[in-house]
Amino acid sequence: MIPLFKVHIPESVMEPLKGVLLSGYIGQGPKVDEFERQLVKWVGNPNCLTVNSGTSALHLALRLAGAGPGTEIISTPMTCSATNTPIVDSKADIVWADINPWDGAIDPSDVERKITPRTKAIMAVHWGGYPCDIDALIKICIKYKVALIEDAAHAFGSTYKGRPIGNHSSYVCFSFQAIKVLTTVDGGLLVCPSVEDYRLGKLLRWYGIDRETPRRDLRCENDIVACGYKYHMNDVNAVIGIEQLKYVDKLIARQRDNAAFYDKSLNDLRRVKRLRYQPDRLSSYWLYTIRVDDRDSFQAHMAKNGIMVSQVHVSNDVHTAFKAYRRNLPGVDEFAAQQVSIPVGWWVTDEDREKIVKATLEWDKR
Ligand SMILES: Cc1ncc(COP(=O)(O)O)c(C=O)c1O
Repeated sequence: MIPLFKVHIPESVMEPLKGVLLSGYIGQGPKVDEFERQLVKWVGNPNCLTVNSGTSALHLALRLAGAGPGTEIISTPMTCSATNTPIVDSKADIVWADINPWDGAIDPSDVERKITPRTKAIMAVHWGGYPCDIDALIKICIKYKVALIEDAAHAFGSTYKGRPIGNHSSYVCFSFQAIKVLTTVDGGLLVCPSVEDYRLGKLLRWYGIDRETPRRDLRCENDIVACGYKYHMNDVNAVIGIEQLKYVDKLIARQRDNAAFYDKSLNDLRRVKRLRYQPDRLSSYWLYTIRVDDRDSFQAHMAKNGIMVSQVHVSNDVHTAFKAYRRNLPGVDEFAAQQVSIPVGWWVTDEDREKIVKATLEWDKR
């Protein structure tokens, strides 16, 4: 089977990893600091806070943005449930907006229609790595004085108008979970829009305890002014991240090359439609999503040819836990009914991608 996802762990991580494991210090320490310094350069934003998962980054961003009882967060159901679960955990109400059925991105005009005096933030998911219309969303945020939270779990390395995701004056949440573009086994990154958010975020990711001001007693913390969480990254995950950064450009370049091959090869088909992407933004292609008119049949055909394809995420409004937030969203329904992703990752060889195109064209002619 050509897999849809593959874990990238280079052999070269073993030595530095062993070094940390045997060092006597495996908690949050110098490797986390070093990883953050490298991420600052990589993302191009000084306010980088590593955390233990993308979900933690989202929860922390919601807290910093003021989500809480009586507030509303405008979000999309067409995503991983991890986008919406932290909103419920924050005790805010989810208000789902529609998406563009041709790229999976939240629709700024529908977002604006859903703003109320209770809105605290807009949660925008970069589906498969393809950036939403960040400028249009920021315009709305400025107009109504609400925050933008980018769920960039799929989008490490993607760019919007020439700048990496993480540079557009919003809270940006990356995931470094096992199968993401960059993995630290588990982990995440919150990029904050201001130094004040960064400072508060740093406190809140570790219970609210200030780790930087010297303590009178080594084991006892100074005054805690706001209670936080146990969301920090540790040196074991961080040392893996440091090593991964040496490879990630090359991996993304291969993903983009595979995607360009599909863009060229899957045109003007009858039953298979490519998504419609704008030239001002570039996905790192965690997913290459297409639309098909009969997903079950496509999936069975591809499996018979040794190729794994999947929806990856279902619209969250099918879940009982989210039933209170259901509403009419025609763009979501259209996308959710037809979307499916084919293997595009760094492990997909020239031969694999030719096989994937051949099988897709065969099915399209049926
Ligand atoms: C869109 C999206 N948001 C958030 C997350 C949560 O990230 P993590 O698994 O690192 O908590 C994921 C996936 O894992 C995701 O796909």
